[in-house]
Amino acid sequence: MEEDERAPIGPSGLNPGVAHNARVWNYWLGGKDHYPADREVGERVFGMFPGIVHVARADRAFLGRAVRHLAGEAGIRQFLDIGTGLPTVDNTHEVAQRMAPDARIVYVDNDPMVLVHARALLTSTPEGATDYVDADARDTGAILKAAAGTLDFDRPVAVMLLGLLNFILDTGEARGIVRRLMDAVPSGSHLVLTHPTLELGGEANAEAMRFWNEHATPPITARGSREIAGFLDGLEVLEPGIVSCSRWRPEFADLGEAPSEVAQFGVVARKP
Ligand SMILES: C[S@@+](CC[C@H](N)C(=O)[O-])C[C@H]1O[C@@H](n2cnc3c(N)ncnc32)[C@H](O)[C@@H]1O
Repeated sequence: MEEDERAPIGPSGLNPGVAHNARVWNYWLGGKDHYPADREVGERVFGMFPGIVHVARADRAFLGRAVRHLAGEAGIRQFLDIGTGLPTVDNTHEVAQRMAPDARIVYVDNDPMVLVHARALLTSTPEGATDYVDADARDTGAILKAAAGTLDFDRPVAVMLLGLLNFILDTGEARGIVRRLMDAVPSGSHLVLTHPTLELGGEANAEAMRFWNEHATPPITARGSREIAGFLDGLEVLEPGIVSCSRWRPEFADLGEAPSEVAQFGVVARKP
């Protein structure tokens, strides 16, 4: 691919010529919002690491179980979902508001295509609220300021970073993002993470990530369980801990033909 083909096109920054994570993720999930460049990279990655499709589906199933736990047993009514992705089946507000119609959700992503489709994320119940913030996860100050228009930061918030910190390549920078977000929320708030790992995925996943970093954007990194634990400093990790996201409180409905373990950690932790 020529260098200038990788440059953003137009004022929105939307470049259909370069595979972009939100759209390729949507392709692996069986969605419709992707371009030929996304499908090509999606297929090449799938060829190297067929487990990627199970990772994407297990991640979404984990999102559903985690949000149901939080909106149910944990009584959380506010969700800050950063790295939202393109709208799909059972977005965070739909899962949360089925349990608690008064739930308030703020979505954040920096992908121009997600912004274009954000209307589909803003279909709140009348009792609750949803909002969308177009921002980079590194800009926590702007995110917190914009989210404060919808969320009350004196009450517990579930901070959701699913498949997001893997795009912040520097672990110190990623820890700083988590710390600034968790410092801004009160006791009783929760952190929900998913993150790709080579500890569960093997060499095929590493090869697929190398290919991704040469042909698509943004660049990605895997992390091990010790680095994931480093994101949870000062928090109480809920059972069963840092596990393959498919093993986090699995439900009968998730079993199907999916493998019992995927190369993606999932964890939920509570701020004491
Ligand atoms: C793998 S998808 C995960 C989507 C969703 N959270 C899920 O678990 O299904 C990652 C999302 O993070 C977004 N993203 C990546 N880097 C980001 C950044 N620096 N700031 C905000 N969003 C980012 C991408 O645009 C994409 O929509």
